[in-house]
Amino acid sequence: MLNSYPLLTDDLGLSMRGKDLLCVHDLSLDEIYRVFAVASELKSELYQGIPHRVLSGKSLGMIFRKSSTRTRVSFEVGIWQLGGYGLYLNADDIQLGRGESISDTAKVLSRYLDGIMIRTYDHEEVVELAEHSSVPVINGLTDLFHPCQALADMFTAYEKRGTLAGLKLAFIGDGNNVANSLLLICAKLGVHMSLACPEGYDPPQSVVEMAKLDAAQSGAQLQIVRDPMEAARDADIVYTDVWASMGQELEKVERAKSFANYQVNRELMAIAKPDALVMHCLPAYRGEEITADVIDGPNSVVLDEAENRLHVQKAIMALLMS
Ligand code: CP
Ligand code: NVA
Repeated sequence: MLNSYPLLTDDLGLSMRGKDLLCVHDLSLDEIYRVFAVASELKSELYQGIPHRVLSGKSLGMIFRKSSTRTRVSFEVGIWQLGGYGLYLNADDIQLGRGESISDTAKVLSRYLDGIMIRTYDHEEVVELAEHSSVPVINGLTDLFHPCQALADMFTAYEKRGTLAGLKLAFIGDGNNVANSLLLICAKLGVHMSLACPEGYDPPQSVVEMAKLDAAQSGAQLQIVRDPMEAARDADIVYTDVWASMGQELEKVERAKSFANYQVNRELMAIAKPDALVMHCLPAYRGEEITADVIDGPNSVVLDEAENRLHVQKAIMALLMS
């Protein structure tokens, strides 16, 4: 299949082979659309039952320091559908959990594997892993970023709307890893983003600065506001995520108080465009950051986003590891 697979050729001089994916900012606009094009092709082939084993004989190691449903299953099934093999490596089960260094882990795993996906706390750990790996490293979520999620989300919006530049995304909630990656991808794609969060929960200034650099090129307008209604006004996409992310369990009660006015509910949706897409990376907590009628309602595309994690990550693996 590889030779007859046009989108994986380097015809446009856009080879991504061997690159890491640590942060959306690392990708050019062309590379983002290339991921979307390959994802679309792979999705269509899967639906038609056409085999696409472009990573036959290749292996992906998947290191997890945090829980996961979507990331784990979509990467594991994805590499299998591409003809490769995925190894689930719970950090506590490998020597990393007993203090083996990231650099030794990276060098050793590079001798066996063709790619490494990692989900962890400290983003610097992923940066260090990539520095010492000779195979591509893919960020499957850190405290700072969740690039695969943002790519799948924008691919979903692209499928639903046919165009991205000029849309408005309202993010209601914490300036967290998902919000950070959305800021970066919206800035690249020319999607306007208005993020409403309480004081003290803004995205890091360094991320905002990074996004502003790309926004100046794309024309995306990025704002951080306190009023959720202001953010949601005329939005094409309304997005939210949990109030307490993995690792913030002890802050759950305090955060529930801080975010009490930042719920995506019917009243907030009435301010957005009538056909606004409702997005959530999942897992969701109904009655907290979003009400059941909205997340389970007709505008919700949360299951499409979850499914598209599979197709987009297959595209990422195919482009980086083939
Ligand atoms: N959205 C997401 O990354 O889900 P998991 O935590 O289940 O992987
Ligand atoms: N912000 C959430 C996303 C989960 C996919 C977390 O980090 O727990």
